[in-house]
Amino acid sequence: MKHIADIIENHRVFILTGAGVSAESGIPTFRGFSGLWCNQRIEDVASPEGWRKNPQLIWEFYSMRRKTALSAKPNPAHFAIAGLLHRMGDRLFVCTQNVDDLHEQAGAHAVHMHGELFKSRCEKCRRVFEDRELHEYEIPLCDCGGRLRPHIVWFGEKTLELDKIHRALDQCTLFIAVGTSGIVEPAASFVSRVAGRAWTIYVGPDDPANDYYFTRKIAGKAGKVLPALFGRSRLPFPASCLE
Ligand code: OAD
Repeated sequence: MKHIADIIENHRVFILTGAGVSAESGIPTFRGFSGLWCNQRIEDVASPEGWRKNPQLIWEFYSMRRKTALSAKPNPAHFAIAGLLHRMGDRLFVCTQNVDDLHEQAGAHAVHMHGELFKSRCEKCRRVFEDRELHEYEIPLCDCGGRLRPHIVWFGEKTLELDKIHRALDQCTLFIAVGTSGIVEPAASFVSRVAGRAWTIYVGPDDPANDYYFTRKIAGKAGKVLPALFGRSRLPFPASCLE
């Protein structure tokens, strides 16, 4: 019996990751019982209006998230994706909604469609800086005098690198979404864009909101499922998953 690991490298693969991929590294997801959005109003900390009203609150929120991410380490899911990327090269495109740097720490390059936690951007000159500092008490300034904001895509703002992402989606023959609730656009519609033309697999403990478009769902935690799915250990996923 053929296993996915035997045939995956013959495909052009698009992997979309969400907060669930970093959950086992200790970074909280957004929705659900103990999600970040349970205690914070999205409009206060993740919108241009929130920034206009109370930029200090926004820096407190992202400093708290930087603090959590500073001590986080990649888990087996990040390493499994990095290993696959190493084998497949430019036939694998990794796109993440996550703003942490755990894919990079594991050795993979991912397109960060929602920005990056360890970068800040000047409102005035638009320069983007590497920034691992915490700015809990005052708003940092750029050399040009402009205010620095987190390099994060807030609700109502334009997703980063969308043209490049659409090109990769249109070329893929296998689409795999991992650990994302399938609610937030435009990522939630990626699967419907490729469905019917590419195989579509969802990996995660719960069904996503857009589950209708997935050919197969593999229930479980990313840190357990992905090493088995992408590894050479011929664990439990027959290639008939793609039939
Ligand atoms: P959500 O918090 O909406 O969903 C996380 C998903 O991960 C859920 O479906 C969980 O079932 C799943 N999950 C939890 N633990 C898991 C594990 N160990 N392995 C695999 N899956 C697991 O997070 P996202 O869908 O990523 O945007 O959220 C999308 C966007 O909404 C975020 O990028 C963020 C947020 O608002 C912005 O801030 C712009």
